[in-house]
Amino acid sequence: MFNAIILTAYPEMFPGNLSYSLIGKALKEQKFNLETIDLRNFGVDQRNSIDDEPFGGGPGMILRPDVVEKAVLSIKIDPQKNTERIYLTPAGKLANQAKLGNFSKLDNLIILCGRFEGVDQRAIDVLNFEEISIGDYVLAGGEIAAQVLLEGCIRLIPGVLGQPESLLEESFSNNLLEYPQYTRPKVWEDTKKVLHEVPEVLISGNHEKIKEWRYKESIKKTKVKRPDLYIKKEQDK
Ligand code: ADE
Repeated sequence: MFNAIILTAYPEMFPGNLSYSLIGKALKEQKFNLETIDLRNFGVDQRNSIDDEPFGGGPGMILRPDVVEKAVLSIKIDPQKNTERIYLTPAGKLANQAKLGNFSKLDNLIILCGRFEGVDQRAIDVLNFEEISIGDYVLAGGEIAAQVLLEGCIRLIPGVLGQPESLLEESFSNNLLEYPQYTRPKVWEDTKKVLHEVPEVLISGNHEKIKEWRYKESIKKTKVKRPDLYIKKEQDK
């Protein structure tokens, strides 16, 4: 079973978003496990510090390597199991759907959440944390990033989503964005009295034609909104 172990100075932030909707149901039904380790339990000196000023000067505080090591060593897991350690940081490698798919197949994913200005680089290197970012923007800490990453990961675990076939056609599953979706009413009159119809083909009942239309729309949308993805798809052919 997928087990997420989160090293954080704010364990009370968890499960947070992960306790809602289908993911929350899966957590209750123990389709995955989530545990937090409070970094403050491994503080040093009389003040129980977990962070200190950066050598060389600069703003903010840096998480101490000895604190991170003690927290990691407190984790009791079977060494035979598939385990990875990641540190969430905007300076990491950008996560993507394929990466999340790989994480979702692990037995244990250990996630170090930074706060302050970061973590001492020696802890990251010596303890083999892979540096991962969830996007090119800076958050105040890794806790929300961990929830984003875990939500993306956990929904890929078999049995968590109601309709596993929805995974096959969703955005990024084949390096394309998902086609546009429509629902009732068939003709929608907006508040300015303008009528908007649903594309005809979707109500034709012709499944072959619908599939073809959706594929074309996926390509069109990807070319316009994410040309980088489209180029990648062409190169991967
Ligand atoms: N911590 C702060 N910003 C982050 C980001 N963009 N991705 C992952 N962790 C972060």
